[in-house]
Amino acid sequence: MKPKYNPIICALDTTEIDEANGLIGKLRGNIGAVKLGLEYFTANGAGGVRQLAHHNIPVFLDLKFHDIPNTVAKAIEATAGIDTFMMTVHTSGGRAMLQAAIDASMEVAYLTGKDRPLIIGVTVLTSLDQADISMLGVNANLNDHVARLADLAQSCRLDGVVCSPYEIAALRKQCGSDFTLVVPGIRPEGSATNDQKRIMTPAEAIQKGADYLVIGRPITQAKNPAEAAKKIADSLV
Ligand code: C5P
Repeated sequence: MKPKYNPIICALDTTEIDEANGLIGKLRGNIGAVKLGLEYFTANGAGGVRQLAHHNIPVFLDLKFHDIPNTVAKAIEATAGIDTFMMTVHTSGGRAMLQAAIDASMEVAYLTGKDRPLIIGVTVLTSLDQADISMLGVNANLNDHVARLADLAQSCRLDGVVCSPYEIAALRKQCGSDFTLVVPGIRPEGSATNDQKRIMTPAEAIQKGADYLVIGRPITQAKNPAEAAKKIADSLV
């Protein structure tokens, strides 16, 4: 089924304001949003996000907040000055932190008069494997731990989680249709896999139940980024 909105979030993954501006200028119209991460925010701050605002493109701020509840709440409230429709927190920050994050997102809505930004949980970083989480004192099976953290996120009223394409089906079943699944590790047919190991095509991921597809290099490194994004959007039928 074709999504009612454009689910493509282009990961800009740059520290350069000019590069971000140039890419958004080319891609606007063929993507639904852009993702700005720690590198862009550390280099350019809130001012750097505001310098992209004239494009009127939704911004997913992927800063993966993880701190005491008060600090995370204050950081989220501070995003009222930069228009973002979605941001991330680590679910391992625990119940009080997750609840504080949701309360803070409501405060942002109050301060801006706009919709509440979606708060999306990161479960287990995909850079960690079973041995890594054991070293952290987690004795559960990795998939069970992801499921438990997704359940915690949902019980704290988070809007959804980030997950790999191969977790979509199980999390959709576990969390129901209203829980937002944001999915990186997407590669259109025939494109380079780069350092991604467990990949899926955009159409397959949407079919399995993804709400948003986070796609970086297949678009940003393409000879013609606008054409690459349009081709992906057109494939989602
Ligand atoms: O270039 P590529 O499409 O691989 O970029 C994917 C984006 O999603 C990058 O910003 C990357 O950091 C992010 N990401 C990921 N895998 C995860 C979580 C986030 O690739 N598990």
